[in-house]
Amino acid sequence: MQPHDQHPHVPGPSLWPVGFAVGVVVLLIGLIVSWYVAGLGAVIALAFAFLWVRDLTTGTALVDAPDVEAEHAAAAASLLPADGGEPATPPAERYPRSKFLEASTLGLGAVIGGLVTVPALGFMVAPAFLKQGQKDHDIGPLTDYPEGTFVIATWMSDKSQGEVSRRTAFVRYNGLLGSQPSYTIISNHCAHLGCPVQPNGPLDDKNTKQLADVTLIPTVSIAGFGCPCHGGQYDTEGNRTAGPPVRALDRYSFSIRNGRLFIGKPFSVSHVEGTGSAAKIHKWTLAFPGEHVNGLESWLYPIQPPH
Ligand code: FES
Repeated sequence: MQPHDQHPHVPGPSLWPVGFAVGVVVLLIGLIVSWYVAGLGAVIALAFAFLWVRDLTTGTALVDAPDVEAEHAAAAASLLPADGGEPATPPAERYPRSKFLEASTLGLGAVIGGLVTVPALGFMVAPAFLKQGQKDHDIGPLTDYPEGTFVIATWMSDKSQGEVSRRTAFVRYNGLLGSQPSYTIISNHCAHLGCPVQPNGPLDDKNTKQLADVTLIPTVSIAGFGCPCHGGQYDTEGNRTAGPPVRALDRYSFSIRNGRLFIGKPFSVSHVEGTGSAAKIHKWTLAFPGEHVNGLESWLYPIQPPH
């Protein structure tokens, strides 16, 4: 009896793992540069993972796989006794162990990887997305903001955290825009590395007002804002005029309720055209200090959680 030909059951070369790896790479790059790129990477990775798993489970990637039925027939024939008597018992149906082992190894690896990675990733990322909202804050009656001059307003964004949550903004009433009051509210965070910028001009300290947790310090006449850390300079609209800052100063949105001014969410500004109520503000999602918000350079910065 001649042993029948033993063809190895070896998976043939497949491009699906390569596509899957490319998708993962695009996904990781996307986590740095853009949610859109991350989404594209996820779609690519999922599509190729699906094709890969389908290959493994259907066996379409096997190359030169032997015809199992023909092999069995040949094996059965080889077991016929020479004298034409009863055939010996045919070999049992062979189970494709290679496929089973591949699928179970991948499945177990995915489960173990998920069990190890997901909780750690959750604990690492989730806090950045929790309790990051900023509530509107009452910074006093409209009458405390004279037209055309800046008032330095400081307030506690979270009283439970105390003074560490104190924020500062430069607030100027611009007069009416149509029938609506117009305010310029500029953040004191330098757009270079976040140092507190100062008004370039004298303060009217004698007329400082304290309203609960809000302090209002009028200025006399300021020519812009300056940063004490590295010499960044800004004009009275917050546009960068000198030094290392990469954009204009951030601003705050505002609302008016019952004759009082409420400060809202901060946002970033690339630059401002015009002045006062006629200013055209080029507004962007709040970015960290030092980050470009537009142009090619803005692609070099990682995605940020809400802050
Ligand atoms: S932090 Fe303001 S210029 Fe550097």
